[in-house]
Amino acid sequence: MSVMYLRGGTPLEGELSVHGAKNSVLPILAACLLARGPVVLHNCPRLTDVTAALGILRRLGCRAEQEGHTITVDPSGAAGCSVSEEQMRAMRSSIIFLGPLLARMGEAHLTYPGGCELGPRPIDLHLAAIRAMGCQVNEELGIHCQGRPKGGEVQLGLPSVGATENAILCAVGASGSTTIANAAREPEIGDLQSFLNRLGAEVRGAGSSTITVEGGRTLSGGEFTVMGDRIVAATLLSAGAAAGGRVRLSGVDWRHLATVLSVLHQAGCRVESRLEYVELERDRDVPLKAVPTIRTAPYPGFPTDAQAPIMAALAASQGCTLFVETMFDSRYRHVPELIRMGADITTEGRVALVRGTDRLRGARVEAADLRGGGALAAAALGAEGTTILSGLNHIDRGYEGLEEMLRALGADVERREA
Ligand code: EPZ
Repeated sequence: MSVMYLRGGTPLEGELSVHGAKNSVLPILAACLLARGPVVLHNCPRLTDVTAALGILRRLGCRAEQEGHTITVDPSGAAGCSVSEEQMRAMRSSIIFLGPLLARMGEAHLTYPGGCELGPRPIDLHLAAIRAMGCQVNEELGIHCQGRPKGGEVQLGLPSVGATENAILCAVGASGSTTIANAAREPEIGDLQSFLNRLGAEVRGAGSSTITVEGGRTLSGGEFTVMGDRIVAATLLSAGAAAGGRVRLSGVDWRHLATVLSVLHQAGCRVESRLEYVELERDRDVPLKAVPTIRTAPYPGFPTDAQAPIMAALAASQGCTLFVETMFDSRYRHVPELIRMGADITTEGRVALVRGTDRLRGARVEAADLRGGGALAAAALGAEGTTILSGLNHIDRGYEGLEEMLRALGADVERREA
């Protein structure tokens, strides 16, 4: 097992291009099941969740290989319609294969995705969406679905990202057209729409709350470049805010991070966003200012995935910041670890009150989930002294070589065997 040694106390200085988005490439890989020819994907991050998705595609009979940041999928051999319990548990979002399996095979046998560090990850909205398209769902001893989907009206009770994606993927294979109301508006759904239409689908409305899909079209193979990862960018910007200095990032559409950039600006950072880059600068000798209230919300609200990294930066600031985490039940598992570094934070259910301190101090800390791990790395770079960060298996699910990225920004970081 490896750990990360991070030596804080010095400002960052550097720039890098942010790698491809985990939350875009995962649904796109599932969507490859709908193609009738080979698919080539560029800008794919090297992550354990991506490796897990490739394993599921192979088990379903596809050829799927990653060379560097390029993935090639040949779905012509796809024949299976079952995903093993082990594979379902290996990646929380394995449920995203449900829609494409029904669209292509008219049958799907999965299990509930594994319990998650963020609290329960229900899939009732996913199942309601495919029922609305006429598929039968039996939940005894797993999730067993039968029936070719038919176009229809899907009304999502919540703007769930995954349920929206599953509904789109199922609808692509349905006979007739489908309307998805109360759809999630996250940018990754726009990337999925662009990918599907590149292959010959007819999906419209991604980014709005109503998406329409013309079903029954045959999708060819094709080539596509995955969007940059806005949450990785938010994490690296949080590290710059925590440590001070100057950080320049490219490869992400900054309009997708407007709420995060606004918070960093309110905290006293200089934030400059252009089409081709965003730059954050902060004088380490001038304390960050607390931001009154940060409430997470579905896009275009403040992203729940950026809550932990931003909290890590604001743990050392002047004043108090109130966080309200509206999306998940258990998304403050980084708080006890920040407290070990000297932070002054009180949580009550989904609310966390951060009383800013002058400076954090290095400590031994452990990541309990993906974005909490990124947050602890950001906090460590702003702290005085050395931090030893474990639980890197969580971090490797969503950050490709976090230590290399931070070193490219001037941080003193290394990964060692424990
Ligand atoms: C996606 O998860 C992301 N994952 C998450 O990122 C992100 O935090 C989340 O969207 C919210 O933005 C991927 O895209 C792979 P949801 P997802 O369905 O689709 C409830 C990361 O760190 N809900 O939008 O699972 C659910 O409990 C990960 O990269 C139901 O009640 O999120 C939650 O409270 C973490 N029933 C809310 O909706 C359902 O059937 C939002 O969940 C589905 C969801």
